[in-house]
Amino acid sequence: MRRRPRPLARPLARPLARPLALLVALLSVAACGGGVHGSPGASGLRDPYFPKLGNGGYDVTHYSLNLAYDPDSHRLTGTATLTATARQDLSAFNLDLRGLTVGGVTVDRKRARSQRAGSELTIRPFDELPAGHTFRTVVRYSGEPVTITDPDGSEEGWLRTGDGALGLGEPTGSMAWFPGNHHPSDKATYTLAISVPAGVRAVSNGELRSAKRSAFGRSTTYVWRVTRPMASYVATVAIGDFRIRTSRTPDGIPVYTAVDPREEKASAKVLARLPEVVDWETATFGPYPFSSTGAIVDRDGDAGYALETQNRPVFPGAPRLGTLVHELAHQWYGDSVTPKSWRDMWLNEGFATYAEWLWEERHGGDTAQRSFDDAYDHDAGSAVWAFPPADPPGAAHISDAPVYGRGAMVLHRVRETVGDPAFFALLKGWATDHRYGNVDTHDFTSYVERENPAEKKALAEVWKDWLYGKGKPDEPDKS
Ligand code: TRP
Ligand code: ZN
Repeated sequence: MRRRPRPLARPLARPLARPLALLVALLSVAACGGGVHGSPGASGLRDPYFPKLGNGGYDVTHYSLNLAYDPDSHRLTGTATLTATARQDLSAFNLDLRGLTVGGVTVDRKRARSQRAGSELTIRPFDELPAGHTFRTVVRYSGEPVTITDPDGSEEGWLRTGDGALGLGEPTGSMAWFPGNHHPSDKATYTLAISVPAGVRAVSNGELRSAKRSAFGRSTTYVWRVTRPMASYVATVAIGDFRIRTSRTPDGIPVYTAVDPREEKASAKVLARLPEVVDWETATFGPYPFSSTGAIVDRDGDAGYALETQNRPVFPGAPRLGTLVHELAHQWYGDSVTPKSWRDMWLNEGFATYAEWLWEERHGGDTAQRSFDDAYDHDAGSAVWAFPPADPPGAAHISDAPVYGRGAMVLHRVRETVGDPAFFALLKGWATDHRYGNVDTHDFTSYVERENPAEKKALAEVWKDWLYGKGKPDEPDKS
């Protein structure tokens, strides 16, 4: 997009290159006397692994995304309306957006300048935004969304599937399909309206509010609402042919599953247990944090992994029961209680892996102790001991074995240290106290210590050896 000339009455925040610019600057300083003198919001939140991810200076409270996608042309047309609150006096702010073409931006209904550089979309509103001001940004955009390859080699962002497309986010993919503050620390509610050609379906997070045919029946618009805070990396949209089933869990939580017809037969048995899994997890982890549950099953190979997208995890092909237990456990640990940064990934994956161990233990399989022992048996050179779970050595490693397996082992060590009653209270208390919030490893260790003051010394050993220590820890005493 090319911009109009800068209006005269606006303060300049950029270096003055030309004499005319200098004159304009002098005039605007004079015209501004006593007004807000904001500065640009930071272009990143200094995440230890993705320093440019997210943006400073504002919080998004709501995304309203109007998307239209045609699986034949692969073209996405979007209008993103972001409601956000300024956290400082802002002269400009950034959104994260990868690929796509921006057609125009307004802030509080006035045209705003915008500029692209890499994954940063810089927006310069006509009027400065004073701290505390809630403002509305509208970004029109279009194009063929891109697939992003993560530092760990997995693919996310916009994936073309056998019969449509799949928008996935972890860790940075959501910026390939909508502009936003794409750091897990800025959660928001969402409205997603997705228009697709007649005969194609669009499934997303939250609850389906309406499905409306266009005037001549050529397209259908599916409107989904997410009324609980959601990190953008667990936002999803799945476009294609899906068989829909709705029901309720015995506890009364609405269930919505969308399954690719080719995967229906293979998925039926495991998906039939979804209500039971959600209710068992509710009994074990505390109240279910969201207003509905379910699953999206695309074809095997449509994505390289399952993902805990909010309300409805995505599975590439029929899920195993253990994977279903894992992704649903993330609804508590990851989606509701979300890491403050990508360093804290083990708080997601350690808990979700431990959930699998617990499910086994409670359903006639191996005890968690047995799973721990099997994991501990890996010899010192094995991948699970490559680094401490609380400190992966770079973005390429946030989904490696120590984050999952050794993360689960940390929780088992906590269980052995505080005993079962305190441990199970802790699983619930942690999820309840930090519901819809963001946490880091220190929040976790201090929470556990606070709840178990008598074990503080023994816990310190667990943190030192299992959470932060390099290499394979010494075998814990079996008492
Ligand atoms: N979070 C997913 C799971 O275990 C796995 C995953 C998908 C992942 N993409 C990722 C982990 C990117 C780290 C980074 O359920
Ligand atoms: Zn996981």
